[in-house]
Amino acid sequence: MEQDLLVIKDLCTQFKTDRGVFPAVSGLDITIRKGEILCIVGESGSGKTVASLSLMQLLPSSGSIASGQIRFEGTDLLKLKKKEIGQIRGKSIAMIFQDPMVALDPVFTCGSQIVEAIRIHDKRSYAAARERTLELLKLVGIAHPERVFDAYPHELSGGMCQRIMIAMALSCNPKLLIADEPTTALDVTVQAQILELLKRIRDELGMSIMLITHDLGVVAEMADRVAVMYAGKIMEVGDARTVFKQPQHPYTQGLLKSIPHLDREGERLYSISGSVPSISAMPEGCRFAPRCPHAAELCRRREPQMIAGDGGCFVRCWMLDQAWEEEEAG
Ligand SMILES: Nc1ncnc2c1ncn2[C@@H]1O[C@H](COP(=O)(O)OP(=O)(O)OP(=O)(O)O)[C@@H](O)[C@H]1O
Ligand SMILES: [Mg+2]
Repeated sequence: MEQDLLVIKDLCTQFKTDRGVFPAVSGLDITIRKGEILCIVGESGSGKTVASLSLMQLLPSSGSIASGQIRFEGTDLLKLKKKEIGQIRGKSIAMIFQDPMVALDPVFTCGSQIVEAIRIHDKRSYAAARERTLELLKLVGIAHPERVFDAYPHELSGGMCQRIMIAMALSCNPKLLIADEPTTALDVTVQAQILELLKRIRDELGMSIMLITHDLGVVAEMADRVAVMYAGKIMEVGDARTVFKQPQHPYTQGLLKSIPHLDREGERLYSISGSVPSISAMPEGCRFAPRCPHAAELCRRREPQMIAGDGGCFVRCWMLDQAWEEEEAG
C-alpha cells in the first residue's frame, strides 16, 4: 500500500551456536505505515532486538538472515549491496539504543559526534554542520545547546545523553526511527520526558517510529499500533486501543493482566508462569502452548496461522481459528 513505509515479510533470522543453527525469528511479518508509531512488545528473549538488527542488517557474525523480504519504500533491502545498505542506514533509517553511554564515544564532545554523523552523509562545511547540530540540540529540548555541544558524554546525565542520541539519529532526517528500549536505563520521570520528546518529533517531522519495549505502560502511552511478539513470532497485531481494550491472544491477555494497577494496591500481581523458550528448544505446535492456560491437544501439535480477529486485529491462535474444528476432527 502507498502508506506503507516498511513491509517485512516472512523473515527468518538464525544463529549459529555450538549446538547447531537455530532460528531466533521466523515467519516474521511486520508493516510500518508512514507517520505511525508501531510498538513491538514482548518478554525478554522474544526476538525484538534480533528483528530490529535484521532490519538494519547489523547482526553479529553468528547471525544471518535465512529468508524473507524487507521492503523499504518498495525496495527490498535484502537485495541491496553493502554500500547501498550503508546509505539507507543512518540516512533513511536511524536507530537509537537502550544505553546511550555505550553508543556515545567518551573521548569526543557530544557536538563533534553529531557533526561527524551529519558529515558522513552530507558534505556540508564544518560551520554549517555545527549550525545544524545546534538546531538539532534545540529540537530535542536542550536548553543550552552551545554548552552541551562542548560537553563530553560523561559530563551529562543519562537522559541528556539519550537526547543527544536522538539528535544524532535525527541528523539526516530519517523516515524511520527504530528505538530499542530507549528509556529502560532511565528513571521514570526522565523516561516520560524522552517518550514525550519522541512523540513530539514524530508529530513535527512526520517520521515513522518503531519502538521496542517490554513495558506495556510505554505501549499504552505511545503506540498507534502494537505488535505482540513471542518466541520469534508475532502473536497479535492491531490498533493499540483495540488490543488494550480487547486482547484476543492468551499471551497478550496474560501480559495485560500482569501490569500493576495503583488502584489495586495489595492485590497479588499476576504473572504468566514459565519463561520464553530458548531458540534451541522451541516447542512444537504453538510456541506459547506450554504456558497457555487454554492450550488444547491441537495447540501442542500444530502451529496456528495468523488469522483476522475482531477489530481489524490479526491473531495467531487456534481458539479463534475457524479451521479449529476440522483440524481437531482430522
Ligand atoms: N548472538 C546470538 N547468538 C545466539 N542466540 C542469540 C544471539 N542473539 C540473540 N540470540 C537469541 O535470540 C533470541 C531473541 O533475542 P533478542 O535479543 O532479540 O530478544 P529481545 O526480545 O530483544 O529480549 P530483551 O527484551 O531481553 O532485549 C533469544 O533467545 C536470544 O538468546
Ligand atoms: Mg532486546
